Amino acid sequence: MKKAEQRRIVEAAAGLDRPVRIAGTGSYLPERVLSNADLEKMVDTTDEWIVTRTGIRERRIASEKEATSDLSTAAAKRALKQAGVAAEDLDGIVVATMTPDMVMPNTGCLVQDRLGARKAACFGLEAACSGFTYGLEIGRQFVRSGAMDHVLVIGAEKLSSFTDWQDRSTCVLFGDGAGAAVLAPDQDGAGHRLITTVIGANGGLADLLKVPGGGSRRPASAETVHERQHFIKMAGREVFKYAVTEMCNAGRDALKRCGLTTEDVDWVVPHQANIRIIQAVAERLKVGLEKWYLNIDRCGNMSAASVAVAFDELVRSGRVQSGDILLMIVFGGGFTWGASVVQW
Ligand SMILES: CC(C)(COP(=O)(O)OP(=O)(O)OC[C@H]1O[C@@H](n2cnc3c(N)ncnc32)[C@H](O)[C@@H]1OP(=O)(O)O)[C@@H](O)C(=O)NCCC(=O)NCCS
Repeated sequence: MKKAEQRRIVEAAAGLDRPVRIAGTGSYLPERVLSNADLEKMVDTTDEWIVTRTGIRERRIASEKEATSDLSTAAAKRALKQAGVAAEDLDGIVVATMTPDMVMPNTGCLVQDRLGARKAACFGLEAACSGFTYGLEIGRQFVRSGAMDHVLVIGAEKLSSFTDWQDRSTCVLFGDGAGAAVLAPDQDGAGHRLITTVIGANGGLADLLKVPGGGSRRPASAETVHERQHFIKMAGREVFKYAVTEMCNAGRDALKRCGLTTEDVDWVVPHQANIRIIQAVAERLKVGLEKWYLNIDRCGNMSAASVAVAFDELVRSGRVQSGDILLMIVFGGGFTWGASVVQW
């Protein structure tokens, strides 16, 4: 489809009410790099196994002094700067994370205080790896309805605190980081429009990916610690299968809502859980891998932060042209999934 025609269709999909734009993005990765060679010294694994089975070569690990709110704040400052929005002008902050600093207060409140965003309402959002996309939809609806003007959406994780460093089947997969986006009304047609988001879930599959201990079902005790119940447990093969199916469905649904098809897509920013998942989704959607932005080799799976960081890296790389159609697709524990369409 020609760009002008695409723009007309997309405008029609977005223009029913108050259009919403991504006014700025930012991300932050902790300094410390943990390589596959480092992991070879910790568990019975090899660089070759990790690279061929997952595509991951290294990941970032936050320091002991850094919690999720610190990673979030660093990413948020960069996004606010790029957006030219002052923290005091934020009406809402959504922090999507499965690794909050603590159970209460929510991480959004901690970020609000650090930024000095006095008038912002604050949310913590639990949708595991799909959290950033869920957050974009929450923010989009607030801005679209006119209830808020500026919403800061963050996907941030310190997964290293919930990783079982004795379990080779999971510890090689995860990393820490944070990404952020500032949403604002697009009344003057400045572009970077967040056109639509679809989100979904299937709680019937909750057992396949979880952190069983530390909640009200199994409160922290000597027993839960002994049984390593506070770490991420995953049935990898099953998760893999559902991830491919639901990412394809979500991507197609989101495009359909805007009157577009996969042929119109210029860039795909997928959740970065496993290169083989991404390859399988790319093949089924028939979108060449050269259009997929990948950072899994450097970052591993950062859950809610993955797509947020990747999106920021892509748009800052200067490779995205005005009018390009970007598709974000996510999948995670819950199970949850989602996809967003952006026209740059
Ligand atoms: C976790 C994952 C990489 C495992 O890859 P896989 O090809 O499914 O591998 P399996 O779990 O079937 O294990 C195959 C073998 O490798 C072994 N293995 C597992 N982890 C290993 C490691 N780090 N190093 C070496 N061998 C390992 C297993 O023990 C198993 O050995 P066995 O055949 O002797 O029992 C893959 O299933 C996956 O990526 N799943 C989805 C992850 C995901 O998306 N999670 C988050 C969702 S948001």
